[in-house]
Amino acid sequence: MKIAVLVSGQGSILEALIRERVPIALVAGDRECRALEAAENAGIPTELVERGDFGASFDRHEYTERLMHVLKTYGIELVAMAGFMTFLSEEFFENFGGRVLNTHPSLLPRFKGDHAVRDALESGAQETGCTIHIATEKLDEGQIIAQETVPIHEGDTVDALHERIKQAERRLYPRILKDIVSGELALPRKEDIIKSDN
Ligand code: GAR
Repeated sequence: MKIAVLVSGQGSILEALIRERVPIALVAGDRECRALEAAENAGIPTELVERGDFGASFDRHEYTERLMHVLKTYGIELVAMAGFMTFLSEEFFENFGGRVLNTHPSLLPRFKGDHAVRDALESGAQETGCTIHIATEKLDEGQIIAQETVPIHEGDTVDALHERIKQAERRLYPRILKDIVSGELALPRKEDIIKSDN
């Protein structure tokens, strides 16, 4: 199974996937970032599919087409988002038919969006966590595959809490991906994903 990991940032989750020997055929990033360097250092093929425009005129459809073209060139069958911060348009999820996974730093369905860690901290909750789920065209929705709970400590900062959540993500995501590759964990069929989203 040919896996691509999509990244935008630090790449500590990607490094855990590499460490745990998840077979990765390609790491693609939407911007220059440490994660792409980490992949290069590990000898994994990388592609910078640069986004450039972060403003209101960003052409999501055009970007999605460009990224899909690159992934098709590599024959990618499963996409694992690991801190990828560009929201892709619908055709991406149709094309990969439920074979797009994401890790999100909260216990979904709580705290969707880009400020999940801050929102959890500000909510006064005593725990949060991480979620591995099937990514769909609806942000941070899609079937949940696995979750791990993380405590929120008195006096936590966003950074301290996020690091504790990432430790959980670095444990959980490699395990799930390896189980998918080995066939121990079966992903839902595309038809079932579409049904459960409606
Ligand atoms: C992770 O916490 C991941 O869940 C989050 O970005 C971090 C990436 O860390 N992703 C999102 O918030 C996606 N909306 P890393 O760059 O150190 O691997």
